[in-house]
Amino acid sequence: MIITVASFKGGVGKTTTAIHLAAFLQGQAKTLLIDADPNRSAQGWANRGELPFAVMDEWQAQAAPYQHVVIDTQARPTPDDLSALANTCDLLVLPTMPDILSLDALVLTIEYLQAIRTHHYRILITSIPPKPSRAGQEVKTLLKEANIPVFETGIRRFAAFQKAAMAGIPVYAVKDPRAEAGWQDYEAVGQEILQLMPNLRANGLS
Ligand SMILES: Nc1ncnc2c1ncn2[C@@H]1O[C@H](COP(=O)(O)OP(=O)(O)OP(=O)(O)O)[C@@H](O)[C@H]1O
Ligand SMILES: [Mg+2]
Repeated sequence: MIITVASFKGGVGKTTTAIHLAAFLQGQAKTLLIDADPNRSAQGWANRGELPFAVMDEWQAQAAPYQHVVIDTQARPTPDDLSALANTCDLLVLPTMPDILSLDALVLTIEYLQAIRTHHYRILITSIPPKPSRAGQEVKTLLKEANIPVFETGIRRFAAFQKAAMAGIPVYAVKDPRAEAGWQDYEAVGQEILQLMPNLRANGLS
């Protein structure tokens, strides 16, 4: 399975998502993370510490012997880039933060994907602020009402994710009281992806 993580806006959690989906999939089968962002943030993460899966740039990458491939991409792809990315993966994961600027960028992305008739994408709401904020739930409801596919699970905002990036490890290996909660969020998203998997290649998602 090939999962591509993309967004028109920068800093929405693409690299964090790519790293943790690759960590989850590696628990199922051999997984490769392709860092296709010229900033090489995922490779930097890997170089600072240790990750349980292989990370390569788009030049080094080889499909064999990997069962799953996760591709991290740079922010602000051109529409042509986005359509190429959409055409070469089984699932396009579009992270967004639950704030108005991120949502504006997301609307543009979705309008474009609908124009090119791409159905195999899911929105992932990331960096959800803690209660009493209801931003995460509100954005999810809004997207669902607009019939836009969104993961049931959102990723909560935890400092443990920043510590993980700094230390070059997955969040579950960070010494932080919320490290386990952060990992559980990505595990739940991984489970949702596994459930979608049988439908991905054959039918496309709707
Ligand atoms: N769930 C989260 N909780 C707290 N901080 C987070 C979370 N997800 C991401 N971050 C932080 O937000 C910042 C941006 O995340 P990340 O680098 O994953 O985004 P990106 O979309 O890959 O950015 P870019 O467009 O620059 O490649 C980082 O500092 C990261 O540690
Ligand atoms: Mg990134």
